[in-house]
Amino acid sequence: MLELQNITYSASDENGEKDILRDVSLTLEDNKFYVITGPNGSGKSSLAKIIAGIYTPESGKILFNGRDITDLPITDRANLGISFAFQQPIRFKGITVKDLIKLAANGPADKDMNADICDYLSQVGLCARDYINREVNASLSGGELKRIEIAMTLARKSQFTVFDEP
Ligand SMILES: Nc1ncnc2c1ncn2[C@@H]1O[C@H](COP(=O)(O)OP(=O)(O)O)[C@@H](O)[C@H]1O
Ligand SMILES: [Mg+2]
Repeated sequence: MLELQNITYSASDENGEKDILRDVSLTLEDNKFYVITGPNGSGKSSLAKIIAGIYTPESGKILFNGRDITDLPITDRANLGISFAFQQPIRFKGITVKDLIKLAANGPADKDMNADICDYLSQVGLCARDYINREVNASLSGGELKRIEIAMTLARKSQFTVFDEP
């Protein structure tokens, strides 16, 4: 279960400081799928980044399974089982889809994980044979990249995943 308690976040641009999220509280229970909608610029991505630990709120608390994670950095939150899929996924030039998913799965280096990787890729609707040896570079379409990112979160066996515009 993830709880946000009275989260406030502001950022400054050329027009000065502005509130992006003001006093947001919500409880996300286990085994549920939640969708948050809103106009462009309403703060959806900021909220997702606050959960992942990419942005730090000015005030408020974040609890994950009852533990206060407000001050935990991204890596520690990831190790607790929180995953984040970016609105615009990162491209990793020089790394193949296979190596990236293997890295996400954190499996033993000597284990051939091809069968698992193929399974993750087919779960996101990609034919593994066509993608497994491709590089995660600019040659992949936006949608293909999104699917590969979701395959990574499946490989991580994360407990809680935030998808920013999947
Ligand atoms: N780091 C930042 N610095 C300045 N403004 C930001 C920053 N992050 C987000 N914003 C602004 O906050 C508002 C909400 O952005 P965002 O959370 O990306 O909205 P959404 O995902 O709902 O479209 C936008 O006006 C955006 O320009
Ligand atoms: Mg957004």
